[in-house]
Amino acid sequence: MLDKPEPELETPRLLLRPMQATDLEALLCIFTDPKVMAAFESAPFDRQQMAEWLQRNLDHQAAWGYGLFSVILRTNGLLIGDCGLEVMSVEGVQVAELGYDFRSEYWNQGFATEAALAVRDYAFTILNLPQLISLIRVGNVASQRVAEKIGMRCISEFTRYGHQYWKYGQDRGAMSYR
Ligand SMILES: CC(C)(COP(=O)(O)OP(=O)(O)OC[C@H]1O[C@@H](n2cnc3c(N)ncnc32)[C@H](O)[C@@H]1OP(=O)(O)O)[C@@H](O)C(=O)NCCC(=O)NCCS
Repeated sequence: MLDKPEPELETPRLLLRPMQATDLEALLCIFTDPKVMAAFESAPFDRQQMAEWLQRNLDHQAAWGYGLFSVILRTNGLLIGDCGLEVMSVEGVQVAELGYDFRSEYWNQGFATEAALAVRDYAFTILNLPQLISLIRVGNVASQRVAEKIGMRCISEFTRYGHQYWKYGQDRGAMSYR
Protein backbone atom coordinates (compact mmCIF):
# COMPACT_ATOMS: atom_id res chain seq x y z
CA MET A 1 0.00 0.00 0.00
CA LEU A 2 1.08 3.61 -0.62
CA ASP A 3 2.43 5.47 2.44
CA LYS A 4 1.17 8.83 1.14
CA PRO A 5 -2.19 10.07 -0.21
CA GLU A 6 -3.12 8.85 -3.68
CA PRO A 7 -2.06 11.44 -6.26
CA GLU A 8 -4.18 13.12 -8.91
CA LEU A 9 -3.51 12.00 -12.47
CA GLU A 10 -3.72 14.38 -15.41
CA THR A 11 -4.30 13.48 -19.05
CA PRO A 12 -4.78 15.87 -21.98
CA ARG A 13 -8.56 16.14 -21.41
CA LEU A 14 -9.13 14.66 -17.96
CA LEU A 15 -8.28 15.02 -14.30
CA LEU A 16 -8.43 11.83 -12.23
CA ARG A 17 -8.69 12.52 -8.52
CA PRO A 18 -9.33 10.09 -5.67
CA MET A 19 -13.05 9.51 -5.19
CA GLN A 20 -14.61 11.27 -2.24
CA ALA A 21 -17.86 11.11 -0.24
CA THR A 22 -19.15 14.33 -1.81
CA ASP A 23 -19.16 12.66 -5.25
CA LEU A 24 -22.45 10.88 -4.46
CA GLU A 25 -24.74 13.17 -6.50
CA ALA A 26 -22.50 13.13 -9.57
CA LEU A 27 -22.07 9.36 -9.40
CA LEU A 28 -25.86 8.97 -9.34
CA CYS A 29 -25.91 10.54 -12.83
CA ILE A 30 -23.91 7.50 -14.02
CA PHE A 31 -25.44 4.69 -11.99
CA THR A 32 -29.10 5.67 -12.45
CA ASP A 33 -28.71 5.59 -16.23
CA PRO A 34 -30.32 2.42 -17.66
CA LYS A 35 -27.80 2.43 -20.55
CA VAL A 36 -24.92 2.18 -18.07
CA MET A 37 -26.65 -0.36 -15.84
CA ALA A 38 -27.47 -2.62 -18.80
CA ALA A 39 -23.77 -3.52 -18.78
CA PHE A 40 -24.28 -5.10 -15.35
CA GLU A 41 -27.78 -6.47 -16.08
CA SER A 42 -28.82 -4.40 -13.08
CA ALA A 43 -31.61 -1.95 -12.36
CA PRO A 44 -30.58 1.67 -11.83
CA PHE A 45 -29.18 2.27 -8.34
CA ASP A 46 -31.25 4.06 -5.75
CA ARG A 47 -29.57 6.53 -3.41
CA GLN A 48 -28.91 3.92 -0.72
CA GLN A 49 -27.25 1.51 -3.17
CA MET A 50 -25.14 4.33 -4.54
CA ALA A 51 -24.05 5.35 -1.03
CA GLU A 52 -23.07 1.75 -0.22
CA TRP A 53 -21.12 1.39 -3.49
CA LEU A 54 -19.30 4.65 -2.79
CA GLN A 55 -18.52 3.66 0.81
CA ARG A 56 -17.06 0.33 -0.38
CA ASN A 57 -14.70 2.26 -2.64
CA LEU A 58 -13.74 4.67 0.14
CA ASP A 59 -13.05 1.69 2.43
CA HIS A 60 -10.89 0.12 -0.29
CA GLN A 61 -8.99 3.38 -0.65
CA ALA A 62 -8.35 3.47 3.11
CA ALA A 63 -7.27 -0.17 3.24
CA TRP A 64 -4.98 -0.24 0.18
CA GLY A 65 -4.01 3.39 -0.38
CA TYR A 66 -5.51 3.35 -3.86
CA GLY A 67 -8.86 2.67 -5.47
CA LEU A 68 -11.23 4.34 -7.89
CA PHE A 69 -10.63 7.83 -9.22
CA SER A 70 -13.40 10.24 -10.10
CA VAL A 71 -12.83 11.34 -13.68
CA ILE A 72 -13.30 15.07 -14.23
CA LEU A 73 -13.60 16.70 -17.65
CA ARG A 74 -11.09 19.51 -17.56
CA THR A 75 -13.03 21.86 -19.84
CA ASN A 76 -16.04 22.15 -17.52
CA GLY A 77 -15.12 20.46 -14.21
CA LEU A 78 -17.90 17.87 -14.57
CA LEU A 79 -17.52 14.38 -13.08
CA ILE A 80 -18.13 12.18 -16.14
CA GLY A 81 -16.88 8.80 -14.96
CA ASP A 82 -15.00 6.60 -12.58
CA CYS A 83 -11.87 4.68 -13.35
CA GLY A 84 -9.44 2.90 -11.09
CA LEU A 85 -8.36 -0.16 -9.22
CA GLU A 86 -9.98 -2.72 -6.94
CA VAL A 87 -8.13 -5.58 -5.33
CA MET A 88 -10.14 -8.78 -5.59
CA SER A 89 -9.78 -12.52 -5.45
CA VAL A 90 -10.27 -14.07 -8.87
CA GLU A 91 -10.08 -17.84 -9.26
CA GLY A 92 -8.17 -18.00 -5.95
CA VAL A 93 -5.61 -15.32 -6.85
CA GLN A 94 -5.51 -11.82 -5.35
CA VAL A 95 -5.17 -9.29 -8.15
CA ALA A 96 -5.98 -5.64 -8.95
CA GLU A 97 -8.83 -5.09 -11.37
CA LEU A 98 -8.90 -2.00 -13.57
CA GLY A 99 -12.48 -0.79 -14.02
CA TYR A 100 -14.32 2.14 -15.59
CA ASP A 101 -17.86 3.50 -15.97
CA PHE A 102 -18.81 6.69 -17.82
CA ARG A 103 -21.88 8.87 -18.30
CA SER A 104 -23.51 7.74 -21.53
CA GLU A 105 -23.56 11.29 -22.99
CA TYR A 106 -19.77 11.03 -23.11
CA TRP A 107 -19.34 7.57 -24.63
CA ASN A 108 -17.31 6.90 -27.76
CA GLN A 109 -15.04 9.92 -27.48
CA GLY A 110 -12.06 8.01 -26.13
CA PHE A 111 -12.51 9.16 -22.53
CA ALA A 112 -12.49 5.70 -20.91
CA THR A 113 -9.39 4.73 -22.87
CA GLU A 114 -7.63 7.97 -21.90
CA ALA A 115 -8.46 7.46 -18.21
CA ALA A 116 -7.65 3.74 -18.21
CA LEU A 117 -4.24 4.35 -19.79
CA ALA A 118 -3.39 6.82 -17.03
CA VAL A 119 -4.51 4.35 -14.35
CA ARG A 120 -2.61 1.50 -16.01
CA ASP A 121 0.60 3.54 -16.07
CA TYR A 122 0.06 4.62 -12.45
CA ALA A 123 -0.51 1.00 -11.38
CA PHE A 124 2.62 -0.28 -13.11
CA THR A 125 5.07 2.58 -12.57
CA ILE A 126 4.04 4.11 -9.22
CA LEU A 127 2.34 1.24 -7.41
CA ASN A 128 4.59 -1.35 -9.06
CA LEU A 129 1.76 -3.84 -9.35
CA PRO A 130 2.91 -6.90 -11.31
CA GLN A 131 -0.35 -7.49 -13.18
CA LEU A 132 -3.72 -5.91 -13.91
CA ILE A 133 -6.89 -7.60 -15.01
CA SER A 134 -10.27 -6.40 -16.22
CA LEU A 135 -13.36 -8.54 -15.77
CA ILE A 136 -15.80 -7.84 -18.56
CA ARG A 137 -19.24 -9.37 -18.93
CA VAL A 138 -19.25 -11.45 -22.11
CA GLY A 139 -20.82 -9.30 -24.83
CA ASN A 140 -19.76 -5.90 -23.45
CA VAL A 141 -17.87 -4.97 -26.60
CA ALA A 142 -17.30 -1.31 -25.64
CA SER A 143 -15.50 -2.35 -22.47
CA GLN A 144 -13.67 -5.11 -24.34
CA ARG A 145 -12.46 -2.54 -26.86
CA VAL A 146 -11.16 -0.25 -24.09
CA ALA A 147 -9.24 -3.18 -22.58
CA GLU A 148 -7.74 -3.99 -25.98
CA LYS A 149 -6.80 -0.36 -26.67
CA ILE A 150 -4.79 -0.15 -23.44
CA GLY A 151 -2.88 -3.29 -24.38
CA MET A 152 -4.75 -5.97 -22.44
CA ARG A 153 -5.27 -9.40 -23.91
CA CYS A 154 -8.05 -11.93 -23.28
CA ILE A 155 -6.74 -14.57 -20.88
CA SER A 156 -9.84 -16.69 -20.38
CA GLU A 157 -13.61 -16.84 -20.21
CA PHE A 158 -15.01 -17.99 -16.90
CA THR A 159 -18.05 -17.89 -14.64
CA ARG A 160 -18.20 -15.69 -11.55
CA TYR A 161 -21.26 -15.41 -9.32
CA GLY A 162 -23.38 -16.92 -12.10
CA HIS A 163 -22.22 -14.57 -14.88
CA GLN A 164 -19.91 -15.23 -17.82
CA TYR A 165 -16.85 -12.97 -17.97
CA TRP A 166 -13.95 -12.35 -20.27
CA LYS A 167 -10.82 -12.02 -18.16
CA TYR A 168 -8.51 -9.49 -19.79
CA GLY A 169 -5.03 -8.94 -18.40
CA GLN A 170 -1.67 -7.32 -18.83
CA ASP A 171 1.67 -7.82 -17.05
CA ARG A 172 3.88 -4.91 -16.04
CA GLY A 173 6.58 -5.94 -18.47
CA ALA A 174 4.25 -5.84 -21.44
CA MET A 175 2.92 -2.25 -21.57
CA SER A 176 1.78 -1.27 -25.03
CA TYR A 177 -0.82 0.93 -26.70
CA ARG A 178 -3.01 0.06 -29.64
C1 LIG B 1 -17.34 0.78 -21.32
C2 LIG B 1 -17.31 2.29 -21.30
C3 LIG B 1 -16.67 2.75 -19.99
C4 LIG B 1 -16.50 2.81 -22.50
O1 LIG B 1 -16.40 4.22 -22.37
P1 LIG B 1 -16.03 5.15 -23.63
O2 LIG B 1 -15.54 6.45 -23.09
O3 LIG B 1 -17.14 5.18 -24.59
O4 LIG B 1 -14.80 4.32 -24.26
P2 LIG B 1 -13.87 4.79 -25.47
O5 LIG B 1 -14.53 5.89 -26.24
O6 LIG B 1 -12.52 5.03 -24.92
O7 LIG B 1 -13.80 3.45 -26.36
C5 LIG B 1 -14.98 2.76 -26.71
C6 LIG B 1 -14.68 1.82 -27.87
O8 LIG B 1 -15.71 0.86 -27.98
C7 LIG B 1 -16.26 0.91 -29.28
N1 LIG B 1 -17.65 0.55 -29.19
C8 LIG B 1 -18.61 1.13 -28.44
N2 LIG B 1 -19.78 0.49 -28.62
C9 LIG B 1 -19.54 -0.50 -29.50
C10 LIG B 1 -20.35 -1.51 -30.08
N3 LIG B 1 -21.65 -1.62 -29.78
N4 LIG B 1 -19.78 -2.39 -30.92
C11 LIG B 1 -18.46 -2.31 -31.23
N5 LIG B 1 -17.63 -1.36 -30.70
C12 LIG B 1 -18.19 -0.48 -29.84
C13 LIG B 1 -16.03 2.32 -29.73
O9 LIG B 1 -16.11 2.44 -31.14
C14 LIG B 1 -14.62 2.54 -29.21
O10 LIG B 1 -13.64 1.85 -29.96
P3 LIG B 1 -12.74 2.58 -31.12
O11 LIG B 1 -11.98 3.66 -30.44
O12 LIG B 1 -11.89 1.49 -31.64
O13 LIG B 1 -13.72 3.14 -32.13
C15 LIG B 1 -18.75 2.87 -21.39
O14 LIG B 1 -19.37 2.32 -22.50
C16 LIG B 1 -19.57 2.58 -20.16
O15 LIG B 1 -19.53 3.32 -19.18
N6 LIG B 1 -20.38 1.49 -20.21
C17 LIG B 1 -21.24 1.11 -19.10
C18 LIG B 1 -20.45 0.62 -17.91
C19 LIG B 1 -19.47 -0.46 -18.28
O16 LIG B 1 -19.68 -1.29 -19.18
N7 LIG B 1 -18.34 -0.49 -17.54
C20 LIG B 1 -17.30 -1.49 -17.77
C21 LIG B 1 -17.63 -2.72 -17.02
S1 LIG B 1 -16.44 -4.02 -17.38
